[in-house]
Amino acid sequence: MRLSVIGTGYLGATHAASMAELGHKVVGVDIDPIKIDRLAAGHVPFYEPGLPELLSKHVTSGALRFTTSIQTAAAFADLHFVCVGTPQKQGEYAADLTLVDAAFLALREWVRPGAVVVGKSTVPVGTAARLAALLRDAGVELLWNPEFLREGFAVEDTLRPDRIVIGATNDAARELLEAAYAPILAAGTPVVRTDFATAELVKVAANAFLATKISFINAVAEVCEVAGADVTQLAEAIGHDERIGHKFLRAGLGFGGGCLPKDIRAFMARAGELGVDQAVSFLKNIDEINLRCRARMVDLAREMCEGSLVGRRVGVLGAAFKPDSDDIRDSAALDVAYAIQRAGAAVRVYDPEAMHNAKDAFPTLAYVPSALEACQDVDVVLHMTEWEEFRALRPADLAPIVRERNMIDGRNVLDPDQWRAAGWQFRALGRS
Ligand SMILES: NC(=O)c1ccc[n+]([C@@H]2O[C@H](COP(=O)([O-])OP(=O)(O)OC[C@H]3O[C@@H](n4cnc5c(N)ncnc54)[C@H](O)[C@@H]3O)[C@@H](O)[C@H]2O)c1
Repeated sequence: MRLSVIGTGYLGATHAASMAELGHKVVGVDIDPIKIDRLAAGHVPFYEPGLPELLSKHVTSGALRFTTSIQTAAAFADLHFVCVGTPQKQGEYAADLTLVDAAFLALREWVRPGAVVVGKSTVPVGTAARLAALLRDAGVELLWNPEFLREGFAVEDTLRPDRIVIGATNDAARELLEAAYAPILAAGTPVVRTDFATAELVKVAANAFLATKISFINAVAEVCEVAGADVTQLAEAIGHDERIGHKFLRAGLGFGGGCLPKDIRAFMARAGELGVDQAVSFLKNIDEINLRCRARMVDLAREMCEGSLVGRRVGVLGAAFKPDSDDIRDSAALDVAYAIQRAGAAVRVYDPEAMHNAKDAFPTLAYVPSALEACQDVDVVLHMTEWEEFRALRPADLAPIVRERNMIDGRNVLDPDQWRAAGWQFRALGRS
């Protein structure tokens, strides 16, 4: 089939390459000419394991090409996937739909009658119905097909998703999308066929649930810390209950990134517009617990520096919001690093992949090219993003270069016994 993918960021570039892998002819469209030039040359402009190989394979074969022209894409494809960003509005909780609206208006101008448009961006409930009306005048049907991929596993999640959700008002349009996903469906992937509103809400509800699980264990972690308990053992114990499960129960610095924080805030804002803000008011607590983890990390660093960060040197391991990604949107690591700098410390940051993005977003922090350089002569080391490279660090690697042997594990993945046995003061959120 001939497909277009509009918006070639983390979601769209992955979707475009994955659709080519399924055997389709795909054109990717973006308003960012630099991004398009890089993609057209077979280079992924961000870090995502497995994507460079897939992209270059299909750019080389000619199955996948890129353009800044929506007109070209509209003329080429029968099925258009809209994957543009829906960030948080400046100064408000609500989602900013400016980019979505602009993409739909541009597409409507050129799209061929009979084509089908598939919304994949995460949007407030009610958006799809509004956009469908806009397209119907042009003789075009809309589907809403929310995306659940995880950065770091984006290719795998796109080609082998755990479910596909399709909101539709037209069976023929839905069948066209199912034909495009035929190899995925043939593998037995469950499909939920539903209406627009449910499809939109599935996505935000899923993210709200995940955020709640993380903030739940982080709230318990704070109690563990003062009660002399160990949240990692507690999480292991409660996770054995299959109704609870182990995933997303690791206490630490909490969630960040371009989805969970802004999606729960947009959910609250939309519920407010619908007059049911009380129903999801608990999400405000979830958000606050999450932000509180960052403040507690700063407090822990201050404690380890005998009550003041002024004039101290702090090494920060990690800038990305999670490992195997260079995404620094709403990154707890950078938030904490910046707060510690404002508290008077000299902060040096290292991340294996996110340095460029971090420098753009937090230009006043100091960046160094290796973990060891970040830890040189520091009073305390903060482990913020659980890259394999940091997990593999041993106390003996850092002992000769630090000023003081102080380690704070913001992700609860380092072994406290190992660090303490080597003479380090070791602290972690949720462990006394
Ligand atoms: N990143 C994820 O892990 C993920 C997962 C699931 C859902 N989502 C959702 O997918 C959407 C996109 O997220 P992302 O992380 O890929 O964002 P992103 O910012 O990385 O990418 C969006 C892209 O859209 C482009 N764009 C903006 N307006 C355009 C227009 N009119 N025409 C063409 N291109 C345009 C931008 O230049 C950018 O390259 C968001 O709604 C997000 O919530 C993201």
